[in-house]
Amino acid sequence: MKITTMSLAVTFAMTSLAASADEAALRQKAIDAGLEPVPYGLQQVEDNPVTREKIALGKMLFFDPRLSASGVISCNTCHNVGTGGDDNLPTSVGHGWQTGPRNSPTVFNAVFNVAQFWDGRAEDLKAQAKGPVQAGVEMANEPEQVVRTLNSMPEYVERFGLAFPGEEDAVTFDNMAKAIEAFEVTLVTPNAPFDQWLEGNDGAMSDEQKAGLELFIDKGCAACHSGVNIGGQDYYPFGLIKRPGADILPPEDKGRFQVTETASDEYVFRAAPLRNIALTAPYFHSGQIWDLEQAVAVMGTAQLGTQLSDDEAATIAAFLEALTGEQPTIEYPTLPLETDATPKPRL
Ligand code: HEC
Ligand code: HEC
Repeated sequence: MKITTMSLAVTFAMTSLAASADEAALRQKAIDAGLEPVPYGLQQVEDNPVTREKIALGKMLFFDPRLSASGVISCNTCHNVGTGGDDNLPTSVGHGWQTGPRNSPTVFNAVFNVAQFWDGRAEDLKAQAKGPVQAGVEMANEPEQVVRTLNSMPEYVERFGLAFPGEEDAVTFDNMAKAIEAFEVTLVTPNAPFDQWLEGNDGAMSDEQKAGLELFIDKGCAACHSGVNIGGQDYYPFGLIKRPGADILPPEDKGRFQVTETASDEYVFRAAPLRNIALTAPYFHSGQIWDLEQAVAVMGTAQLGTQLSDDEAATIAAFLEALTGEQPTIEYPTLPLETDATPKPRL
């Protein structure tokens, strides 16, 4: 009897030892596949020192609908920080209820992307931020009008001065973009279950999620989706093996071809960043797929030429849920008061 108990204890010890060896092997495999945790601490970006004055100003600008011609639409309209940093619509709705051509990607962790937009046409966040303010289907404003609006409010003038010390005329369209970039740098989501597990906390992911991680690597997903953002680091044809149907891949949006005008870039898109993916349905640049398992299955056929079983797709989706990090806590800013000189809304 005693011997049985002992051998049971030994067996138990050996299985958990084996389990932790498996755990270590899987962890090494994830690291070798180039999967990385969200780093601690504030990122610094090129040519734009991130100071607290700039972050505070950028936060106001991000939430200020007066950057739009109508006075109704702010960055937060389409990148709602309460819903994963996007708008949960197939494609975004902007000025005058116009529907844009693409799904809104999350602003969370965007600082880790190699470049911005589905096709990477903006090299960084400050270059990106000037786009939506001027886009006819988004905020439909003009730079001069934005500067006029900002200059009409004494608190903004003062805050631009503090954020860009030593500049004679600090209220500029470029500085608006730089301040927004500084705020966006703070929008990172650390401590996802996957990150905690990578750091050595075995219990942070469920067995199903670990199995999903293994499939994610073995099936070849990690070949395109890696780095800190588990994507966002390089460009690939959407439909590398088999082009998806016109509903998912509308023929008129040729992706990176519009940026480089190189034939081989037709239907090439940035490998989508997969952090917080469980929060940002619907999926793909067309926003036509609402179900994460279905999106995984589309990737199997389109990118890998593999018909994933329902079980495999569900297991991989379970792993993707482990990429949901701590959402930033943001206090809604009180915005500067308008004056008589503030341009009136143009609806
Ligand atoms: C009307 C909706 C709308 C508004 C308003 C809007 N965006 Fe976007 N945003 C989008 C869409 C749609 C895309 C993707 C467009 C594309 O890839 O061509 C995008 C892309 C982005 C990206 C790139 C993310 C990535 O992963 O590539 C960032 C960053 C971003 N927007 C920040 C902002 C900021 C800052 C503002 C305010 C100045 C703003 N957006 C206003 C809809 C909007
Ligand atoms: C050959 C490169 C490649 C491979 C392999 C690949 N992907 Fe993708 N993935 C992409 C690209 C490019 C996109 C962006 C597609 C678009 O433009 O809508 C994408 C988009 C996605 C999306 C939608 C993200 C969003 O924000 O809407 C998910 C989910 C996804 N991939 C998961 C996976 C999974 C899971 C696998 C493995 C079964 C996989 N991918 C394999 C390149 C790849």
